[in-house]
This record gives sequence, structure tokens and C-alpha cells, in this order.
Amino acid sequence: MSGRELDWDNMPETYKQYPPDLKRVKLPEPDMEGGAPLFQLLKSRRSVRSFAPRALDAKILSQMLWAALGISLDAGQYQFRTAPSAGALYPVEMYILVNRVTGINPGIYYYDVQNHMLILLREGEFGRDMARAALGQGIIEKAPAVLIWSALVRRGMWKYEQRAYRYFYLDAGHIAQNAALAAVSLGMGSCQIGAFFDDEVNELLQLDGEKETALYMTAFGSLPQS
Ligand SMILES: Cc1cc2nc3c(=O)[nH]c(=O)nc-3n(C[C@H](O)[C@H](O)[C@H](O)COP(=O)(O)O)c2cc1C
Repeated sequence: MSGRELDWDNMPETYKQYPPDLKRVKLPEPDMEGGAPLFQLLKSRRSVRSFAPRALDAKILSQMLWAALGISLDAGQYQFRTAPSAGALYPVEMYILVNRVTGINPGIYYYDVQNHMLILLREGEFGRDMARAALGQGIIEKAPAVLIWSALVRRGMWKYEQRAYRYFYLDAGHIAQNAALAAVSLGMGSCQIGAFFDDEVNELLQLDGEKETALYMTAFGSLPQS
């Protein structure tokens, strides 16, 4: 960083843009208050690898998305998020594999954080393909929904060059922990998934693996006995 000026004229956009003709799904407004006390959540969080078979309520999905990396403070020039990010650049993007969510068709969606909306990228049942890409982990197909995080490389490298790679993983860790604790607070279980074939996940998300590449996942759903 030292001795280097930032190229403000070529600062990458903070929000990814998708064509306006892609289908948007409005999500219920998230609650930004309440939930179980933090220390109880820390005590109770465990990786959960089986889920009740019923569909997830869209309100729960909305709550999970906001908790993971939603906007928590609009300070004009910056919109700060629930998870910290090096330089407030927010290079980690979020996709959602929807297997079974009430009122939302199965498919792969992008989370439009600015508008708290889903953007449909691919409609259809992709649970089995995603599970195969994750070394055959059936949890990916059985969970009602899976959050998948990627790094938008240029957004971090614009400021941090090579060091951006370290920060992608640190940012993703914060986000995943938010999701894990939110799941407990919502009476659900979740499991972080790092074991997957990058190329296969990137292909499913339609990412090139260079400009943007998959980093990490969290499968979540209602507890099996609930
Ligand atoms: C970076 C990372 C990657 C992980 N990848 C997987 C995975 O691919 N599959 C899985 O079943 N669990 C995965 N886990 C969950 C760990 O196995 C789990 O966190 C660990 O056994 C500790 O148990 P606990 O989460 O219940 O405290 C991963 C956890 C982390 C932090």
C-alpha cells in the first residue's frame, strides 16, 4: 500500500449490475431487532447436517440474507453492512441455491444487497448438481437453501493488490459466522461448506473463476426434530 495512490477514476462499482429483464423477487423486510442473547447463540451453535424436510419460510430466508451481509447503516457515501470488510469495499458477493422455499421457485439467485431482493439467474432444481460439485455432500441437496459466497476480485485488488486475497477469506469468514449465529437465533441449523470443486461451483453460478470465484457456502434449514 505504501507510496501508492488509489486510482479513484477506476474504482470498481460497489454493487454488481444485472440486466433489468432478469426476474426480481422482493423479500419480506428483515427484522433488525430481537433474537436470542448473543452468548446463548455462541454456546448453542453447532454444525447441523440434517434438516426437517419442509419448505423454508421466505421470511426466514430474508432474515438470513440480511444477517449474513445486509446493509445495517446508510451513511451516505458508504452503506455499511452487518459484517466488517477490509476498506469497506465489500468484495464478497452472495448467491442462493433455493431448493425449497415457500413462494420462491427453485433455482440459483443473486442477492441484490442494495435493494434486499433476489435476482433469478437460473431457474430449476440445481441441488443435486451443487451437491455433486461439493464432493457429493448430500446436505447441499437436502437443505432448503444454501448461501454461496464468491469474491469479486477486482473490487478488492483495486486497493489491496495481492493482499486482497487474504481479505476475501477474512471477509467471508465474518459473513459465514453471522449466518451461523442467525440460524441458531431463528431456531435453525446450519453447516459451513468449504469442500467443493471450485470450477464446478463457478460453472453452476456462471462465474469465470478469475474475475469472480466461489469461496465458501452455508447450508441451512429447520432442525430435523422441529
Ligand atoms: C472453513 C470451513 C470449512 C468447512 N467445510 C465443511 C464441509 O465441507 N463439510 C462439512 O460437513 N463441514 C464443514 N465444516 C464444518 C466443520 O466440520 C465444523 O465446524 C467442525 O467440525 C466443528 O464443529 P462445530 O461447527 O459443530 O463446532 C467446515 C468448517 C469450516 C470453518
